[in-house]
Amino acid sequence: MNPRAIDRTIAPLLHIEALRVRAPGPHPASGQSIPLVHGVDLDIWPGERVGLVGESGSGKSITARSIPRLDPRLTLSGSIRVAGREMIGATDAEVRDIRGQVVAMVFQDPLSALNPVLTVGDQITESLVQRGVSARRAADEAARMLDRLGVADARRRLRAYPSELSGGQRQRVVLAAALIGQPALLIADEPTTALDVEAQDQVLDLVVQQSDDLRVAVLLITHDLGVVAGTTDRVYVMRAGRIVENALVDDLFARPSAPYTRALLDATPTLDRDPGVPLVSVAALGLPAETIDLPNGAS
Ligand SMILES: Nc1ncnc2c1ncn2[C@@H]1O[C@H](COP(=O)(O)OP(=O)(O)O)[C@@H](O)[C@H]1O
Ligand SMILES: [Mg+2]
Repeated sequence: MNPRAIDRTIAPLLHIEALRVRAPGPHPASGQSIPLVHGVDLDIWPGERVGLVGESGSGKSITARSIPRLDPRLTLSGSIRVAGREMIGATDAEVRDIRGQVVAMVFQDPLSALNPVLTVGDQITESLVQRGVSARRAADEAARMLDRLGVADARRRLRAYPSELSGGQRQRVVLAAALIGQPALLIADEPTTALDVEAQDQVLDLVVQQSDDLRVAVLLITHDLGVVAGTTDRVYVMRAGRIVENALVDDLFARPSAPYTRALLDATPTLDRDPGVPLVSVAALGLPAETIDLPNGAS
C-alpha cells in the first residue's frame, strides 16, 4: 500500500508535549495522587490517521480523553495544542468551543454513548441545533450524514430510538453525531471493540472513508495492532503510561524497534498463522502490564 501524502512540514493539528496526568488518589500505599501518564509526546497532522496502540491499562484512554479535557478530576501538565490553541489551562468556555468545533470523540460502547429516550435524529442534530442551525436544516444534514455512513432509509431512521438499532447501526449514529459538526480531528477510542467481526470491519472502513472524504484527521485507539494495520498512516505504541515507539505504520510492521512492540506483534493473530502454534502473550515475555508507577515524589 502506498503511504498517503501527509504534509508533516506544516504545523500539526494536534501537538501533545510532555503530557503528564494524575488522578486525585489518594494512592493506597503513598496517600498521594496517582500518576497515570508520564510524559507523552504525540503529534497529528491535518488529515492524518494515527493509531495509539497498547495493552489494556496502558493509559490510552486517559491520554485520549485528556485532549478534549473530558475528566475534570484529573490533573494535567505539559501541553496539548489543538489547532494552535492550548487546552491545558483553557477556560471551560474555550474547552467547549474546541470540543464542539475542532475535536469530536467516539467511544467503545455506542449504547452508553446514546441517550435511550431521545431519537437518533435528536442526538445527531444536537450539536448543530446548539450552534443555532434550524431543526429542519439539521435534520436534513443528519439524514445526509447517515446516508453517507451507509444507513438505509436514513430519513426514517432519524425517528428511531437507539434500542431499535443493531450495534453496528448505533456506532454509525455515534459517528454521524461526531462528524456532523465537521471536526478537524476525530478521536475514536476502541470504536469497534464492542461490535461483532463483520460490523467491526464495516465501521473501520467507514472511519477510513469518511476521513478521506471529509479530510478529518483520526486518532484511532485500540489494543489490537491488527486494527491499525490497514487503516492508519502512523502509529504510537504506548506502555505503562509512556510512548515506547512512534513509526510509520508500514515501518512498524516491517521493523518494530521496541521490544514491547515486537511482543505485541507476536501476540497479534494473523490470517496465515499456523493454528497449531499458540499465540505468544506479552506477559509470557516478561513484559507485565504494570500501569501505575508507585509515587516516589519524582514522577
Ligand atoms: N479516574 C481514574 N483514577 C485512577 N486511576 C485511573 C482512572 N482512570 C483510569 N485509571 C487507571 O489508569 C490506567 C490507564 O487506564 P486507561 O487509560 O483507561 O487504559 P487503556 O485505555 O490503555 O486500557 C489503568 O491502570 C486504570 O485503572
Ligand atoms: Mg481504554
